[in-house]
Amino acid sequence: MRNLLPATEENVRKAAEVIRRGGLVAFPTETVYGLGADALNAEAVARIFEVKGRPKFDPLIVHIASLGDVRRLAEEVPEEARILMERFWPGPLTLVLPKRDIVPPITTAGLPTVAIRMPSHPVALKLIGYAGTPIAAPSANPFGYVSPTTARQVAETLGDRVDVILDAGRTPIGVESTIVMPVGGEVFLLRPGGLPVEEIEEVLGKKVKPYEGDGVMAPGTLKRHYSPRTPLIILRDWSDYYRLRARYGRSLLLLPRPLYGLDGEVRFLSERGDLREVAANLFSTLYEIDRMGYEVVFVLPVPEVGLGRAIMNRLRKAAAR
Ligand code: TXA
Ligand code: MG
Repeated sequence: MRNLLPATEENVRKAAEVIRRGGLVAFPTETVYGLGADALNAEAVARIFEVKGRPKFDPLIVHIASLGDVRRLAEEVPEEARILMERFWPGPLTLVLPKRDIVPPITTAGLPTVAIRMPSHPVALKLIGYAGTPIAAPSANPFGYVSPTTARQVAETLGDRVDVILDAGRTPIGVESTIVMPVGGEVFLLRPGGLPVEEIEEVLGKKVKPYEGDGVMAPGTLKRHYSPRTPLIILRDWSDYYRLRARYGRSLLLLPRPLYGLDGEVRFLSERGDLREVAANLFSTLYEIDRMGYEVVFVLPVPEVGLGRAIMNRLRKAAAR
């Protein structure tokens, strides 16, 4: 594939030039690969929606490389947002803030707010810096499919509809950023992700509230999303497994930690039973599974603490039919 390039200094500069000219670049972040365009160029952003097949009501995250850019994009930065960006940026945290007019409506799907994040991946930071403009980027997958954690997955699903795909290997975190919206002294959780909510609460000294708005406000909250083609079933317990397995043909059991002596095909998402490793391996495993022809995949849940919240959120969406 001609557009799949190793993320060398020269190629990152070349990719930044593509962004400046209104093109599309898939690039690594610490969470997943993003499909980027100049966030302030409405035509360039329109191409993201086209290539992903993403509905126009689903707003994008705008990626920045310096704190100064927040003021260019956001009309207002509440105290809670300031504290969180100082503590967690660059990193897997997205803040939803009131937007300025410089951000075109297509980028935010017509919302009065803009989602902003400063990624910590060195390639992402360089790309944004060299482009000299904030980069709007959703995950680099066809709409509704699993987010990519390797450049090859991007190449296989989006192919030559992207001008450049920068390859820097696997993304370390493996699930998307945590999205929060500070409003009126409270902080609302729009999507659990790579930054555990507990860490946010500790820094703020108060609870993050569940967001009770509609699905249009944060379409990442659409029920079905992140879905592999292979049907996925979350087990309640072992008796579930034995009862359900008998009903299907070839199946796979996904486990958060090694467990031996089970009959049937089994895969571990972590060698150590570590949630960070489970998150890092989750999406890549789903991509692989889709090529293996199972009739169904069973998965045992993880506790919903720390990264477990993001992992279960993605698994439920993958399982929703
Ligand atoms: O880790 C990540 O966040 C990755 C990498 C590439 O940065 N990006 C990502 O983008 O996951 P995407 O488009 O797949 O998910 C962005 C989510 C969407 O579900 C969207 O609804 C929400 O962010 N969002 C964006 N702008 C918003 C806004 N103004 N208000 C509420 N939600 C917003
Ligand atoms: Mg996505």
